[in-house]
Amino acid sequence: MNRRPRRNRRSSGIRRMVSETNLGTEHLIYPLFIEDGTNIKTEIKSLPSNYRWSLDLLLPEIEECVNAGLDKFVLFPAVKDDLKDTVASYSYADDNFYLHAIRAIKERFPQIELMSDVAMDPYSSDGHDGLVRSGKIVNDESLPILSRMSLAQAQAGIDILGPSDMMDGRVGYIREHLDKNSYSDVSIMSYTAKYASAFYGPFRDALDSAPKAGDKKTYQMDPANKREALIEAELDEQEGADMLMVKPALCYLDIIHALRESSNLPVTAYNVSGECAMIYAASQNGWLDYEKAMSEMLLSIRRAGADGILTYFAKDFALNA
Ligand code: PBG
Repeated sequence: MNRRPRRNRRSSGIRRMVSETNLGTEHLIYPLFIEDGTNIKTEIKSLPSNYRWSLDLLLPEIEECVNAGLDKFVLFPAVKDDLKDTVASYSYADDNFYLHAIRAIKERFPQIELMSDVAMDPYSSDGHDGLVRSGKIVNDESLPILSRMSLAQAQAGIDILGPSDMMDGRVGYIREHLDKNSYSDVSIMSYTAKYASAFYGPFRDALDSAPKAGDKKTYQMDPANKREALIEAELDEQEGADMLMVKPALCYLDIIHALRESSNLPVTAYNVSGECAMIYAASQNGWLDYEKAMSEMLLSIRRAGADGILTYFAKDFALNA
């Protein structure tokens, strides 16, 4: 044999040199859940070691994460039912605790990149990402609501908007609304290819945001489709997205790869709640080594072509990096 690939795996020195993919805290975006109130730190049952925080306890938590090397966070609100209505008006209300929290976090940690979620579901009494009319999720009438929510988040100081609603045309609509109001520096990381997935379960538990009726299949993508993701990517690029995202990550590594090949924009992936829950559950049972399984999962998402990864593992990874 004149070719023996094992020679290049002989020592850690060689293995380190020929390693094709790197993974560091710079690639990670940490999702955090916030609710109104004080002194709240409630563990999410289906997502152990992740919590719903009140702002007073969230600030020291972010400080710990920053000290561990994280500098990008995405914030999700858990909204009380009596504040929800059909048009998600609380999403841009002056006294909205989420907007207040964005201000407070950016004031305390100006150096971090703070990302939001743009969709109606946390604020909607219907639990859908767009406006519901006679049982249908209507596209064009959702756009002004989404862009009003986006502007309110920009005014509060958000750095990156994350439209996760999958309405057609929303990236362009939001971009224009932001620019008109002098927020041209605020980025849009579009949930470009967001699939109608069973892996969002723990997230919906965390926010109590499951749809009241029906499912999200008329706006989130069919897991069977790949070419359609390329169409979504093309539209998001044309509409002015700064970054593209694929969600979920693990069952969709081929989609991450396809977007990486077809676009010159940065591509990120959302390693969603259900994907992380599988590893938490298996490692709590002693069936998997948590640190190793988690790092391997994140590395595979990077290898598929993701520049950045939104993941609930971010803090644990950072603490062990
Ligand atoms: C809502 C939203 C969801 C997630 C992020 N933003 C849930 C959904 O679309 O139902 C899921 C994230 C996760 O599962 O970790 N617009």
